[in-house]
Amino acid sequence: MRNSRKAFVVVVLVIGLLAMVVGCAAPSTPTPTPTATASSPTPTPTTPPPGGDIIIGCVAPLTGDSATFGKSTQNGVQQALDETNAKGGLLGGRQLILKTADDKSDPTEGAAGITRLIEQDKIVAEIGTVQSKVSLAIAPILQAKKIPMVSPTSTNEKVTLVGDFIFRACFIDNFQGTVGAAFAYTNLKVTKAAALFDVGNDYTKGLAESFRDAFTLLGGTIVGFEAHPTGATDFNAQLTKLIAAGPELLYLSDYYNDVGLICKQARALGYKGYFLGGDGWDSPDLVKIGGADVEGGFFTNHFSKDDTRPEVQTFVKAYTAKYGEAPDALAALAYDAANLMLDAITRAGSTDGTAIRDALKTSNFKAVSGTIKFDANRNPIKAAVIIEIKGGQQAYKATVAP
Ligand code: PHE
Repeated sequence: MRNSRKAFVVVVLVIGLLAMVVGCAAPSTPTPTPTATASSPTPTPTTPPPGGDIIIGCVAPLTGDSATFGKSTQNGVQQALDETNAKGGLLGGRQLILKTADDKSDPTEGAAGITRLIEQDKIVAEIGTVQSKVSLAIAPILQAKKIPMVSPTSTNEKVTLVGDFIFRACFIDNFQGTVGAAFAYTNLKVTKAAALFDVGNDYTKGLAESFRDAFTLLGGTIVGFEAHPTGATDFNAQLTKLIAAGPELLYLSDYYNDVGLICKQARALGYKGYFLGGDGWDSPDLVKIGGADVEGGFFTNHFSKDDTRPEVQTFVKAYTAKYGEAPDALAALAYDAANLMLDAITRAGSTDGTAIRDALKTSNFKAVSGTIKFDANRNPIKAAVIIEIKGGQQAYKATVAP
C-alpha cells in the first residue's frame, strides 16, 4: 500500500506535474452539437412507443448552504435530457423526463428524496447526488432496489464501494489530494503545510488526509492538522493554533461556504501564506463570501470552462445560451453523468436496472470532462485541473493527467 502510494505520487510528479501544459488532456471526439438539433422538431410517433416515458431521477442540494451545487447539477442533467429528447428520445422514441428531489446537503433528506423518486416517480436511474456524505446515504437504497446511480461529483472513495450499481463520473479524493500536494510541494515550493477540515464530513476529512499523506511522502512537513465542527462559522480557535505552527500553506478541503469564511478569518489573524483546496471550492459564491481574501487561492477541479478542447467549448456555448451563465464543474459533470447513463440505457436496449448496470460497466464514453472508462470499483481514471482565483474569477492554470 505504502509502496503503491509512493509510486503513484512519483508518477503524478514525473509524468503529470512536470508535463503540465494547458490542454494536455487526452483528445476526445466532440459531443453532438446541441444547438444544431434543438430546433429540429421532435418526431411524433403515430402511436406512443411501448413503455412510455423514461423517468430519470436527480437528488441534489437545491437549497441550503450548497445551493449552487444543486442548481448547476440539475441544469447539466436537464440539458443532456433535452438534447436527447430533441433527437427523438431513446429506445424507439421514448422521451426522457427528469424528476428531482432536494437533499438540502443533508443525508436524511437525501434518503427521503430518493425513496420518493423510486416509489412515487418510478425512476429507472439516478444521476446524483453531489456531496459524498449524502451520496453515502442514498447509494444503499438504490443498491437494494437494483437501480443504477451515477454520482457526477462525489469524490470520496467509499461511495462506489457501497455496491455494484453505484458509479461516479469523477476522479476520487486520493488522486485529488495527491495532485494538490504535488502542486504545493513542486510548483509552489512549499515545505510546511497545515490542514483544516470538517470533522463530520467524509469528503473533507478524507481529502485532507490524502493531501497530508501525499505531502509527507514528497518530503514536506505537516505542521498542523485540525478539525472543526460541522456547521461552524467561527474558525478562530483552530486557525490561531494552525497559524502559530508557521505553515506556508493552508490546505482547506471544505465546501465554498466554509472556505470563504476561513480565508477571511485567517487573513484577519495575520496569516500571509497560500490557500489551497479541492473541488468543493467551485462556486460563484466563493468570491462573494471570501472577497479579496480568497484572491490568489488555488484549487483542484474536474473541469474548466476555459479548456480549449472543442467538446468543452461546444458544451460551454450551448449551456451558456440555455441558462445565461457559464457552466461550472458541477454542471459539466452532471451533463456527463447523464449522457453516460443515457449511453448505457441505449446499449442495454432496456430500462432494466441490471441491464443498465452491466452496460455502464463497459462504458467507454467521450465526455466533456474527459473519457470515462471504469476500473473494478466503478471509478473513472481522469485528469484534474488546477484553478487560481484571479481578479475574482477562476483562471485555468494547468491540467494534471493521472
Ligand atoms: N467532491 C465533493 C464531495 O464529494 C462534491 C463537489 C464536487 C463539490 C465538485 C463541488 C464541486 O462531497
